[in-house]
Amino acid sequence: MKFDTPAGQNPIDRLAVVGKPTDRIDGKYKTTGTAPYAYERHDVAPNQAYGYVLGATIAKGRVRRIDTAAARRVPGVIAIVTTLDMPKLGLGMMNVANLFGGDEIQHYHQAIAVVVAETFEKARAAAFLVKVDYAPVAGKFDLTAEAKTAKPVEGGSGEGSGGGAEDRHGDFEGAFAQAPARLDETYTTPDESHAMMEPHATVAAWEGEKLTLWTSNQMIAWGKNSVAKILGLKPENVRIDSPYIGGGFGGKLFIRADAVLAALGSKAAKRPVKVALTRPIIINNTTHRPATIQRVRIGATKDGHITAIAHESTSGNLQDGKPETAVDQTKLLYAGANRLTAMRLAHLDLPEGNAMRAPGEAPGLMALEMAMDEMAERLGLDPVEFRIRNDTQVDPGKPERPFSQRDLVGCMRLGAERFGWAQRNPKPGQVRDGQWLVGMGMAAGFRNNLLTKSGARVRLGRDGLVTVETDMTDIGTGSYTIIAQTAAEMMGVPLDRVVVKLGDSDFPASAGSGGQWGANNATAGVYAACVKLREAVAQRLGVNSADAVFEDGQVRAGNRAVPLADAMVGGELTGEDLIEYGDLSKKQQQSTFAGHFVEVGVDVDTAEVRVRRMLAVCAAGRILNPKSARSQVIGGMTMGVGAALMEDLAVDTKRGFFANHDLAGYEVPVHADIPHQEVIFLDEVDPQSSPMKAKGVGELGICGVGAAVANAIYNATGIRVRDYPITLDKLL
Ligand code: MOS
Repeated sequence: MKFDTPAGQNPIDRLAVVGKPTDRIDGKYKTTGTAPYAYERHDVAPNQAYGYVLGATIAKGRVRRIDTAAARRVPGVIAIVTTLDMPKLGLGMMNVANLFGGDEIQHYHQAIAVVVAETFEKARAAAFLVKVDYAPVAGKFDLTAEAKTAKPVEGGSGEGSGGGAEDRHGDFEGAFAQAPARLDETYTTPDESHAMMEPHATVAAWEGEKLTLWTSNQMIAWGKNSVAKILGLKPENVRIDSPYIGGGFGGKLFIRADAVLAALGSKAAKRPVKVALTRPIIINNTTHRPATIQRVRIGATKDGHITAIAHESTSGNLQDGKPETAVDQTKLLYAGANRLTAMRLAHLDLPEGNAMRAPGEAPGLMALEMAMDEMAERLGLDPVEFRIRNDTQVDPGKPERPFSQRDLVGCMRLGAERFGWAQRNPKPGQVRDGQWLVGMGMAAGFRNNLLTKSGARVRLGRDGLVTVETDMTDIGTGSYTIIAQTAAEMMGVPLDRVVVKLGDSDFPASAGSGGQWGANNATAGVYAACVKLREAVAQRLGVNSADAVFEDGQVRAGNRAVPLADAMVGGELTGEDLIEYGDLSKKQQQSTFAGHFVEVGVDVDTAEVRVRRMLAVCAAGRILNPKSARSQVIGGMTMGVGAALMEDLAVDTKRGFFANHDLAGYEVPVHADIPHQEVIFLDEVDPQSSPMKAKGVGELGICGVGAAVANAIYNATGIRVRDYPITLDKLL
């Protein structure tokens, strides 16, 4: 189905099932431990052996020799494959550093060997006996030091909207110089780790040339093609299965060493092999969100209209790596005739930087929205009012391009009202509650809505069961549930008559889970397949599908009403299709919006920060399931608190690695850190987005939160910390 004109009335609009706060179908399996994660797929292949991955202990250089003799003598060791046994393997989609093979070391903990044994403990014990002789060379590990060598570079993490090295509209420098009110500040964000609950893990088994990987991956079709490329296989000889995923946040967008080494280990051991990357190796072996140095300049009239805005971001990455696209939102969020956004990239030899939840916007808004708060104060304007004054309904760089929908103002107004923003004292450091200095802060949230093709197959059985098959993944987001809701709505059956099967590369290729595009695109693909199935049913019943109504388990056409199951006499029917998009999102900018409000307390003696209340008001098109959408948004808000207050990969700038490589040293918020969170969705539909009229929320939830926390801390204390995370030492 080609979607190239705005959606009209369709069966989803009935909202008998879609739009309801349905519990997650996989919820009980995940919360009771019965959803099998990749490492727990004991039943899929017999006689599984265990692979333990060894990572390089230098950051840059060569492996001269690997001595495996002692390791091979350990009882229970079956096979050892080292990087020197293999040529350098090809790169998979979005891989920047080589995953295995050859003697070159590009970053710390790059995989150099897999030891396969009868048990995990034997594999690990043997791995520690492997002796490696390195020829290290000096590397570059300090972004602050390398920033001056950074070069202009184009964006595009594969998830974001990317953009040029430098985008200009009007005359920024001239307008900024003449602006009556000016701000010029620099903000920094640190390297961050996805820290998902389930580690990267894979069970691999070969049948001749055919390889099956039971793994944990967000993007099945990308993964299949990547494995084929990396291992030199025909894509049709690779199958990937990933039905349950314990979080990804972008860290599982691509194939990583667990999959490659399970496959190579299995080939060498001649039996199925499972590999999990241990937590200490994940941090330096896989990807992370790169640190940024961001300069924001804003010029405005005395009454608070922005006349000039510039946002420049510098980040680092390996050779051929991409910049963090932290300036993207600044192209679209506020009005102003004279604009400059630019990205620069420094070469660093740290592990590969890549997408993490809302790549670009998440760190970008931490800078921009703090700058907006600072500018509002300089102008003597309320921060909400300052943002409202600079709202735009068109792409400010291309005024002929309107937003398909934009109610940022509505989000901020409703949020201010519900949060009690009028009670905020604009003068910082004035409000005390016992030992706590109390402050309120807010920020705008913004993330684009991306359209990408997505396929599905829907089968109707004689028993009246509707079975959906698509390689879409559920990374904890609720894909199973919203897909079931979509199919139930389209076929007019109750939710419990729908079976959803996900994550298998043998199913039609979907949009996958990334860039908050999963919900809208994957359900739209299911919608398209259901349209095909409805046509097949109507044809069998001898009615015009346009006149047929699918409702209450029946197909009604004219004065006939046939139970849906009766239409199956003669056998099962199948509908398969994919949603494809025309130019709609080029002609109109599709984005999602939020107003984030936060109250914090800061201990007057210790400067400990406690978040006391949080509210997000979101405008993101039709909300397919308010319960799973809320869950996504509060998860994003929690991650935003982590970014504001805790998360920080500590770089050892001499040896070139992230030193706090576990969840003891890399802190993320726990339940005790997070107060009551409230989420309100504006009641809207966006007919430009798809037949579902929905948009993404999974990343919107984090976007802006960090700055809202920072702004609240400033309001509480009068201390402006521009270097995240805002740990208590920076407030004393
Ligand atoms: Mo993307 S960072 O997996 O949502």
